[in-house]
Parts: sequence; structure tokens; C-alpha cells
Amino acid sequence: MKIEFYKHNLSNADKDEARRVLDSIFLTSGDWTKEFEKKFAVYTGNKHAVGVASCTNALELAVRRYGIGPGDEVITTPMSFVATANAVEAVGAKPVFVDVEKAIGNINANLIESAITPRTKAIILVHLYGQMCDMKKIRAIADKYNLKVVEDAAHCIEGKRDGIGVGQFGDVACYSFYATKNLSCGEGGALTCNDQETYDWLMRARLHGLDKSAEDRYNKLYKHYDMEFLGFKCNLSNILAALLVHQIDNLDGFLAKKEAIARIYDNGFSGNPYISKPAVLVNSRHARHLYTIFVNSLRRDEYLHALQEASVGVAVNFRPIHLMRYYREKYGYKEGDFPVAENIGASTITLPFYQKLAQEEISYVIDTVNNIVDG
Ligand SMILES: Cc1ncc(COP(=O)(O)O)c(C=O)c1O
Repeated sequence: MKIEFYKHNLSNADKDEARRVLDSIFLTSGDWTKEFEKKFAVYTGNKHAVGVASCTNALELAVRRYGIGPGDEVITTPMSFVATANAVEAVGAKPVFVDVEKAIGNINANLIESAITPRTKAIILVHLYGQMCDMKKIRAIADKYNLKVVEDAAHCIEGKRDGIGVGQFGDVACYSFYATKNLSCGEGGALTCNDQETYDWLMRARLHGLDKSAEDRYNKLYKHYDMEFLGFKCNLSNILAALLVHQIDNLDGFLAKKEAIARIYDNGFSGNPYISKPAVLVNSRHARHLYTIFVNSLRRDEYLHALQEASVGVAVNFRPIHLMRYYREKYGYKEGDFPVAENIGASTITLPFYQKLAQEEISYVIDTVNNIVDG
């Protein structure tokens, strides 16, 4: 039996919708993009959504929106994919890492204040694996020091904590529709916000800073465009948006299925003393993006390889960003700087976790992991 790390979940309705775009004349951003944005804003409980080409692009737009640049610092987490910190690097500012909470791997809100300096402009947090950060606490700190809050919600479209949804306490939230995400079109992303000016800026910034899109020019009486500021080129196309417009209607059903698989995994590993897992927060809705286990860090790589040899697809989410060569060499970050993140990075294994996993595949993963992780 071979258990793929991930299998996408595109339905015939999704594929038919993409075909409708291919049979139309407008492949770039247009009606499908707009429809998806409308649905995405409603789903996340935010006023506005802007479709972009990736979460990486979304994060960079967010940082640029707040005029962050050389000489500025942004507080963020080392326990993420490099895209989170790279958005800060991309504008010439400095990512200042703060260690994470042991139980769930999210940035430790109690450590944020001590990392704030007069150069700090923003906090970029990550709702790791699908559980939200303590947004009330982080918003209060941000307000006290006049900082912007950017939520990296690549793992957490569906999440809630203490009644708060993603994007509702941050200034802007960034999402990924990358190939393995809960909502996916291969490559894609979005931002949500509740501020009209930010929305207007983002809509232009994703298209070179132009005041009119190709669709505006084509479908309405031709008007010349002007370029108001230096933007990006990262709009979400109709083709990709078409793959998302039906998926989003079914997101809660998909989540229920993943929740059920998570419970089967939890039970399956509960008797193994060498496996632990991130805690599940109470009073919250886990978006269940990734299912990770923590094992003996001295043997993690051995287990990873053994799982691969047993045909179980695995990943590591994540080796901490501050220990990536670029960040070590540029800022002198080293082992021991953020021990909690380092510990997670050294002991984590991500297992196959998607709706199409059949019961016998889930059982195979559980048995194989339990046989291999033995010390
Ligand atoms: C936490 C986190 N942030 C950002 C990204 C970047 O997303 P994208 O691939 O859509 O640029 C990822 C990608 O997997 C991620 O896991």
C-alpha cells in the first residue's frame, strides 16, 4: 500500500467550472475571481477579500501596505514556512523572531512585548497547523505600541478562537490555496481586511498599482488607466478562482471529514508513549490543516526515512526559520536562540491528512507509525 502525503479534492463541479472559464474569453481575473472573493469574505466573516497568486504575495502586499521598509523591524515566529519571514526581508526590513508556545507552536504572546523596540512596526503571526493565536492578547499589545497585525492564515481559513474568526482582530489576514491546503487551486492566495482604504489599495497593488484592471477596460467603455503607485503583479486568475468557487461552499463538510480523521489518528496513537501531539485548544475551532506528531528528536530523521520506506508520505512542518542558512548568516541567529521552536522543528513529523484517505489507509498509517516509532 502507498499512502500519498496529499491528494487533492477537486470535484467534477470544480473541473467543469474551470472548463467554463477555458471556454470563455476571459482567462485572467474577472467574474470568477469576483465571485470567489465575495464568497471568501462572507465565509471568513470579513468585509473584503482580494484574490492573489499566493500567500507569499499576500504577505508581501500586507507588509508593503503599511509602508514597512529598511530600518524597520517586524516581530514574527520562527515556527513557520520561510514565506512568513521572507515577506519582511523582501521589503528590506528585519524579521525579529519570538519563540513559540510549546503546546501548540504558535507565537508566544507573552514574549512579544520584550522584543518590541522603537523600530518595530508590525507583528506577523501564524495560526500554525490550523489553530489560531491568542488574538485578543496580541491585538492589545499591538494597540499599546501602535503596531499593525498581519495574520498568516495559510493553515487556518476555517479557524475560530474565543468566538473570533481569522482576520477579525488583525489588520489584514493572508491565506494560501497552495496544492496541499484545505482550499486549493494548486497555487493561489487571498487577503481579507475590514478597512475600505486597505481594500482599495490591495486591489490596485496586486495589479501594478493601476487604477483599472483589464476586465474594467474591456467590459466597460474604454478608459485609460493610470498607475498610482508601484505595485505587484499577483492577481488571481479566473481559471484558478473557478476551482475555488464551489470548494468554498463545501469547506465545512471537508473540515468535518478531517476532524473525524484526526480523532481516529489521536486514538490510534494514544497508546504509544513515544508519540505526543500539539494540544487542541478549548473554545476554538481547529482548521485541521496539518496533522503532526512529535517524536524523539534524536531519532526523528530515522523515523521519517523508515516511514517513507514503508510508503507513507511524510513532511516536516517546519524546521525553524532562524536556523535557515540565509537567516543564520545574515543576522547571526543560532541554535539555542528559540529553543521551543527548535524542539518542535527537530521532533515533528507531518502525516498524510486529507479527505480522500480511506479507512484502510488511515489504519495502515497508524500501524506503520506505531511500529516504527519505538523509542
Ligand atoms: C504558514 C505558511 N505561510 C505562508 C505560506 C506560503 O504560501 P504560498 O505557497 O501560497 O505562497 C505557506 C505555504 O505553505 C505556509 O505554510
